[in-house]
Amino acid sequence: MNVKDAINQRKSIRKYLNKQVPEDIIKDLLDAARKAPSAKNTQSHKYFIVKNQDVINELKKEKAFEQPFVYDAPLIIVCCADSKQYPERKNADSSPEDYALIDLSIAASFLVLRATELGLGSVFVAWIYADKVRKILGIPEEYIIPFVLPIGYPAEDPDPRSRKDLDEILF
Ligand SMILES: Cc1cc2nc3c(=O)[nH]c(=O)nc-3n(C[C@H](O)[C@H](O)[C@H](O)COP(=O)(O)O)c2cc1C
Repeated sequence: MNVKDAINQRKSIRKYLNKQVPEDIIKDLLDAARKAPSAKNTQSHKYFIVKNQDVINELKKEKAFEQPFVYDAPLIIVCCADSKQYPERKNADSSPEDYALIDLSIAASFLVLRATELGLGSVFVAWIYADKVRKILGIPEEYIIPFVLPIGYPAEDPDPRSRKDLDEILF
């Protein structure tokens, strides 16, 4: 599969087979994120791999995620970034928080495209309660937790969501 195919075939998947994602595949996904570009090559991102059922049960008990399907994923990659790793720039509008979020989002996109190539389904989930996730997983305060990525082998094949035409996204 080439990049264009992965871009075209990716779609949000919210139902997963009851099948674990092998360790080497998880490493492969993280390697795709690792290779993403970042502002000043800061690489402020960090990931918490959740696949232990006890941990998932704890997240469920505390209602860390709004949508129940997230707890049914065999793998949840919690995406984090530390904005303090960027220097304050007095002569720029972008804040360290902006950079942290931009870099993390790019890296997660690389990860998701690689997941698509490997036959995995995923979805960005920002409807989360980050403080609960932080507390349960022990993620340090300096890390933002803007979204998680539930990942698994797809158990659904939804119709692709529509997209605006090119002329609609151009000024
Ligand atoms: C930043 C971001 C946050 C999202 N948060 C959620 C979410 O909390 N729950 C959810 O079910 N889908 C979430 N989505 C998935 C979007 O709804 C989905 O990407 C969009 O409808 C387009 O569909 P597609 O991914 O199948 O192409 C999110 C997507 C992005 C990029």
